[in-house]
Amino acid sequence: MSLLELAKNRKTVRKFKSDDIPTMEDVLYAINVAKEAPSGMNAQPWLFYIIKDFELKQRIRIECEKAEKTFYDRSKGKLKNWLEKHGFSWKKDFLTQAPYLVLVFSDKLAPFSRESVWLSIGYFLLALEEKGLATVPYTPPNFTDVANLTDVSKDYRLEVIMPIGYSNDSKPKYKRKELKEIVLFDENS
Ligand SMILES: Cc1cc2nc3c(=O)[nH]c(=O)nc-3n(C[C@H](O)[C@H](O)[C@H](O)COP(=O)(O)O)c2cc1C
Repeated sequence: MSLLELAKNRKTVRKFKSDDIPTMEDVLYAINVAKEAPSGMNAQPWLFYIIKDFELKQRIRIECEKAEKTFYDRSKGKLKNWLEKHGFSWKKDFLTQAPYLVLVFSDKLAPFSRESVWLSIGYFLLALEEKGLATVPYTPPNFTDVANLTDVSKDYRLEVIMPIGYSNDSKPKYKRKELKEIVLFDENS
């Protein structure tokens, strides 16, 4: 499949088959691709923490849902309506449903660390797609509390939680803007 086809096919998935477990080899393949991303001063400031242990996934879910509940209870007006309309709630089943959680961290002291790590996450997403795996880049309201459940050094900041597994979600791919809406040319092009 071409890169364009992979990018067009990829979509965020929030429901996973919990009994169909991808190989660790495929997860490591995607990280192998992610680590080829460019980074400020080639510092390679990323760290991928792979979790398969159900109890740890459960602890992460409880911590995230506590913070999500506060966020949802406080939301009102347009935001509340949008969340309800799109079927979002404080419940994050995918955190225990997905066979793996990959927590991506950035080195706090590296130059352009966060930009570099998010570039590698882009590579990671496409590599997962190539292997037929699904994910949601989940950004919880309480990153520090979640990071504290792991033994990762405090020199690293948690950027995203990526549940990984096979999709059990029939949601469509959301529409993208047309090229002509997002590209500008200088007058000589
Ligand atoms: C930086 C970033 C943060 C995101 N955070 C969340 C999140 O916390 N929860 C969630 O359900 N989806 C999250 N998403 C997924 C987006 O909602 C999703 O990519 C977007 O709606 C487009 O849908 P698609 O990926 O299926 O094309 C995030 C995506 C990005 C890139």
